Amino acid sequence: MDTGLEGRIMTDAHTLLGIRTPIIQAPMAGTATPQLAAEVSNAGGLGSISIAAADAEAGRAMIRQLRALTDRPFNINVFCNRPSRPDAAVESTWLAHLRPFFNEFGAQPPATIHDIYKSLFDDEAQLQVLLEERPPIVSLHLGLPPQARIDALKQAGILLLASATSLAEALQVQAAGIDVVVAQGAEAGGHRGIFDEHGADEQLSVRDLLRQLREHVQVPIIAAGGLMDGADIADVLALGAVAAQLGTAFVLCPESAANPAYRQMLASERARRTDFTRVISGRPARGIVNRFMVEVGAAGHPPVPGFGIAYHAGKELIAAAGKAGSPEFAAHWAGTGAARARSLPAAELLAVLTDEYHAARSTL
Ligand SMILES: Cc1cc2nc3c(=O)[nH]c(=O)nc-3n(C[C@H](O)[C@H](O)[C@H](O)COP(=O)(O)O)c2cc1C
Repeated sequence: MDTGLEGRIMTDAHTLLGIRTPIIQAPMAGTATPQLAAEVSNAGGLGSISIAAADAEAGRAMIRQLRALTDRPFNINVFCNRPSRPDAAVESTWLAHLRPFFNEFGAQPPATIHDIYKSLFDDEAQLQVLLEERPPIVSLHLGLPPQARIDALKQAGILLLASATSLAEALQVQAAGIDVVVAQGAEAGGHRGIFDEHGADEQLSVRDLLRQLREHVQVPIIAAGGLMDGADIADVLALGAVAAQLGTAFVLCPESAANPAYRQMLASERARRTDFTRVISGRPARGIVNRFMVEVGAAGHPPVPGFGIAYHAGKELIAAAGKAGSPEFAAHWAGTGAARARSLPAAELLAVLTDEYHAARSTL
């Protein structure tokens, strides 16, 4: 039954998220800093950080750091993937596959690898930190945690957001009682939020995904993927989103943690070519095409270890290449709009995006 349009909870970004402009700076593990998020929140948008790569206490410190820098709403992001199963045979074959690349930089692969990420799916300490620190907003990526954890966060008064890449995932998000769905189109930079990374991926564009969701989902929708300027934001709001979430657009801000090689790559012609890869982290993610993606991921490569486990090896190879001065083995996550990224301080970028959005809206 098509109840979405009539049944949707009518709201706007201000009422829902407490923000003045309907723009969310995406959580970006390793790239979005508390400083970046605070600048965005203070300027009237929603700043976000991810604590997925931190242990519970480091995550708590990040939340406190961000809270000290703003009295506006902010968003704390966690991963919710099912824990990867270690498989010694797959891992040793993968390390052997990576060995020549390590050797090129005078390095050796690690002897063993393990999952380097925390997931709210099973990490009790991370749940406790969220319940104790009570950030105003928490966003979930890469699936959903057990229902009891969702209920506990809701009971703590936290507004919950969760990524979905398809209508089926969005319906699961809604059924779990999550307040807002983040519709992540295939254009998006970084990890694809698909719940089952081995399942079929419809790879819908953000606009096609929005068109499906607005017909069949009642909870408010945030749009993400390839959105780089105010006209893009006006577009997705006209398609029914309450706010737009932009990641790649904020990577070149001086407040991000992106290193010089990443900034250079994003500002170059290379930014015109992005693709999905699984070989860096173990899950599909979109980034600027480089040797890591093309050569390690060449046809016939052995099975990739689980998410987080593969990334342990990937990060070591990235570090070895970086030390040797090569930018070719890196996780330069970026969306399809990467070539349009602008290098501006975060507050200024937010002001420009807001002005562009208002200008575009008046001509729609
Ligand atoms: C560098 C980078 C890191 C990201 N890390 C995360 C993350 O930790 N958690 C998350 O929910 N999404 C993450 N994303 C995805 C964003 O939430 C969002 O879907 C994406 O940035 C939207 O597409 P865009 O980059 O084209 O704007 C990341 C994206 C980028 C570019």
